[in-house]
Amino acid sequence: MVEDLRLDSLEGVGPVTTRKLSDAGVHNVMDLIVRGPVEIADITGMEKDTAEKIVNKARQHLVDGGLIASHFTSATEIYKHRQSIGKITTGTNCLDTLFDGGIETQALTEVYGEFGCGKTQFAHTMSVMVQKTKEEGGLEGSVLYIDTENTFRPERIVSIAKAHDMDPEKVLDNIIVARAYNSSHQILILEEAGPVIEENNVKLIVADSAVGLFRAEYLGRGTLSVRQQKLNHFVHLLSRIAETYNCAAIATNQVMASPDVFFGDPTRPIGGNVVAHTSTYRIYFKKSGKKRIARMVDSPHHPEEEVIFALGEAGVIDPEDADKKIKKTTKKATKAAKEPEVETTIEAPEVETIVESTIDDEPKDSEPIEE
Ligand SMILES: Nc1ncnc2c1ncn2[C@@H]1O[C@H](COP(=O)(O)OP(=O)(O)OP(=O)(O)O)[C@@H](O)[C@H]1O
Ligand SMILES: [Mg+2]
Repeated sequence: MVEDLRLDSLEGVGPVTTRKLSDAGVHNVMDLIVRGPVEIADITGMEKDTAEKIVNKARQHLVDGGLIASHFTSATEIYKHRQSIGKITTGTNCLDTLFDGGIETQALTEVYGEFGCGKTQFAHTMSVMVQKTKEEGGLEGSVLYIDTENTFRPERIVSIAKAHDMDPEKVLDNIIVARAYNSSHQILILEEAGPVIEENNVKLIVADSAVGLFRAEYLGRGTLSVRQQKLNHFVHLLSRIAETYNCAAIATNQVMASPDVFFGDPTRPIGGNVVAHTSTYRIYFKKSGKKRIARMVDSPHHPEEEVIFALGEAGVIDPEDADKKIKKTTKKATKAAKEPEVETTIEAPEVETIVESTIDDEPKDSEPIEE
């Protein structure tokens, strides 16, 4: 293991360069790899060649220390390396089946779906699950939660933790929330995340939502290319951080109505190709009455499969558990006053998505605008 990740542990990187780099938010050797030579040159004003040399040295340093794989690796090595990938249980049988055990580290998992389908609930649940012991399917790590929509609710964390017999106070302590106010701020948070991830043993990074602010700020066709460029930067950064720091990353994404689809589901994720190509796994959440359907849309090694799950006090839950709960509530309800169940009343109207996308004049993301 590389003990020394300080920038000046690299040969040829003196105090001046170290200073230049840390002024630009690059604090350790890992950060150099995450940002890459082009960006390093850009943010420090260094010559491209110099930046390339430094990044190559950083890579070699990590390869020597066994932290990352070298360029040419045998499939056996990769297979072995993949055994070291951590998995975080979802706390449910149904979603664990879909993910073949849980959410993987070193990968970006994108969850998309319409308003109220449970993306935020899922993100909250995973923020608790990652803290479980390894025997229980967690990674004993903490969370960096990038909240762009102001929907992070500590109360939800408390109920999810209680439902899983965990100490709510401890669980809350291990979640670092970064509220992003605009898309540049959202990017900045990730750029500066390196030391936070290391110091706190972060094993899960959540970006909820990853795309929302970009979509809100860059309206209309004229700004599409800038928006996609910036979004591209964000999701690539997220995915590289997940790989370099061996943590899991979850990015949530809304959907928009796609008028050109006549058959099947007329919705598709916002952000188009940029997000799709960067995420390792893509999951589509869909409402189906009170239950929810999760479909594995894209994965290098999972079959395209669907499972049914539900939402409850404990976050994402198995549908059987939801049925049990409904029975219990019905009994209670008949016994005591006839109070309607809250969930039914706040069920989000489907109209929302349609209205939003009409106003938005969402440009077609099918033209790939990438790197
Ligand atoms: N305490 C709770 N118990 C049971 N169900 C809950 C609870 N809190 C929220 N829910 C369910 O979660 C739904 C909201 O899900 P969530 O906030 O995850 O949606 P989302 O996919 O993030 O939507 P958006 O696109 O608007 O961000 C509610 O409609 C409700 O059904
Ligand atoms: Mg949400």
